[in-house]
Amino acid sequence: MTADLLDHTETTTAPARFTASGRPPGPPKLAPAALLAAQEQTLRTSRLRYSLLARALFKTMDLAYGKERTIVKFTVLEFIARVPYQAWERMGYLALSRQRRRSAVAKRVFERIAQTREEQDNEQWHLLILQDLVQRGGLRQSFLLHRLAPWLIAFCYYHVSWLMFLIRPEWSYRLNADFEDHAEHEYMLYVAGNPGLESRPAPGTYGAEYGHYDSVADLLRQIGHDERRHKLDSLVNVRAPRFRAGAPV
Ligand SMILES: [Fe+2]
Ligand SMILES: [Fe+2]
Repeated sequence: MTADLLDHTETTTAPARFTASGRPPGPPKLAPAALLAAQEQTLRTSRLRYSLLARALFKTMDLAYGKERTIVKFTVLEFIARVPYQAWERMGYLALSRQRRRSAVAKRVFERIAQTREEQDNEQWHLLILQDLVQRGGLRQSFLLHRLAPWLIAFCYYHVSWLMFLIRPEWSYRLNADFEDHAEHEYMLYVAGNPGLESRPAPGTYGAEYGHYDSVADLLRQIGHDERRHKLDSLVNVRAPRFRAGAPV
């Protein structure tokens, strides 16, 4: 295991257990002081050593959308972020059909599928929240750059994630950990670089589903912290990509 991976796995938690409702609990919602501490922790933590593929993806995004961190650029990031979870969910169901006669393994496969669905939903809330901020801010989005291009990038990213998972599941998990680590740092850096967000009230449009936050700064810190949890979950799976029965799930 490389040194950079060790740095991040030291704080890794065990995979989330299911709630009484039968769903994984999802990333925790933090109070304002904890959100500020999370931001400081991210800014103190060095980034993972990104793979060539991850760096190519981030470079492509910088070329298409500029290096500057903006809410509009984050919507593209969130559109793409759901894709690996969709690929893993699909592969999980294939694995489940192969393991149906082995109930213990099948249960664990299903738990991992449920976790990917929860993370997809979490990314979907991020996208809805950011789109809401875009609309409220009257920010411009074009069909080519903000509809067509994200769809094309997501299409390619889905198949890369799927293919990697087929060959070596840990490659796919590691690529996602890179993506999530990048997202975590980008959100926290954006908030740190825009102090005006501290006094801008969060709209609360999706408060019932995602929680209520005093400021846009806290809302974005919460999203950044979710990305950290997604990263940590992927790093857990990098270390245990397959179940002992040999099924890649
Ligand atoms: Fe996200
Ligand atoms: Fe994420």
